[in-house]
Amino acid sequence: MPGPENGAEAGSHPVENDGKLGRCREKTRPDNQIFLGGKMNENNTIIRFTLNERIQHILIIIAFIMLFVSGFALKYSNNPVSEWLIQLIGGMENRSTIHHLGGILLIVVGLYHIFYLMVTTRGRDQLRRLLFRSSDRKALLFFKRQSILHGRFTTRQKLQFWLVVGGSLSMGASGLLIWFHDETMSLFSKWFWDFLFVLHSHGAMLVFLVIVIWHMYDVHFREAFPMDKSWLNGKISLERLKKEHPLEYDEYISTHPGKGEE
Ligand code: HEM
Ligand code: HEM
Repeated sequence: MPGPENGAEAGSHPVENDGKLGRCREKTRPDNQIFLGGKMNENNTIIRFTLNERIQHILIIIAFIMLFVSGFALKYSNNPVSEWLIQLIGGMENRSTIHHLGGILLIVVGLYHIFYLMVTTRGRDQLRRLLFRSSDRKALLFFKRQSILHGRFTTRQKLQFWLVVGGSLSMGASGLLIWFHDETMSLFSKWFWDFLFVLHSHGAMLVFLVIVIWHMYDVHFREAFPMDKSWLNGKISLERLKKEHPLEYDEYISTHPGKGEE
């Protein structure tokens, strides 16, 4: 099967991922799962995210919104906005129920996502492409942003993904242990529960900053103002693919001859 890895013509870019000219470590799969058969519609776009992936993303957005709103309403409960919000949703009990339901949703979607990445062919392919390569490490250590040619995911996107994974795991685990107060207290001492509460409370602010400030800046302002719509329609134009993910573009045209950007 032709692909940048096995010597085929690799599009218009000198492939310098990993700092080695001519070698791209994001190997093309024989079944080329990533492009879903390479269908391209009339607007010169290809599918970037499947419906399944978009639904997972939307569910995680719903879970995070429920958790942020109900969590911060407790953390800053003296704030007039929190007071108004708690009144609107019918009191502290309801706020707590919304937080717990959001927590369950986050855990369920998270577990499904792990299953998806481990078990399905496309999921395993995506996971491989989400791992940090030496080119990403160089970009992070030496701020060599401009000279790196990105594949399926940019260094920033990989970092955001792993921060969300880490944030969800730590917030999920600490949230469950806080929630089941009596069981936690019977296994550990009180200082541990207090510590988890502080960790959960401050961790919430960190997760909020990564998602709301960094991820929102990226998807609204960086490349596709006013919004990168791929999270809704799953599509990306070949023009953007070539600019933002040149190695993925190379892979696409090397496996779909004659389908390059017009
Ligand atoms: C609030 C919770 C959210 C979480 C936890 C979340 C998480 C993620 C993660 C982990 C990724 C993959 C890595 C990356 O590209 O950064 C991603 C991609 C993406 N997200 Fe979100 N997201 C959230 C909200 C949103 C919202 C509200 C939007 C749109 C307004 C959005 C638009 C996108 C887009 C367009 C991508 C694809 C980027 C690409 O081309 O790879 N996300 N999101
Ligand atoms: C990104 C995800 C999450 C965020 C941003 C978040 C945020 C918060 C915040 C800000 C507080 C208030 C802390 C304070 O008063 O100082 C809190 C409390 C709490 N959180 Fe979370 N949380 C998240 C996930 C979870 C999960 C997954 C669970 C459980 C499964 C959970 C369970 C709890 C519990 C039990 C409390 C104590 C107050 C209550 O019962 O409502 N949280 N959370």
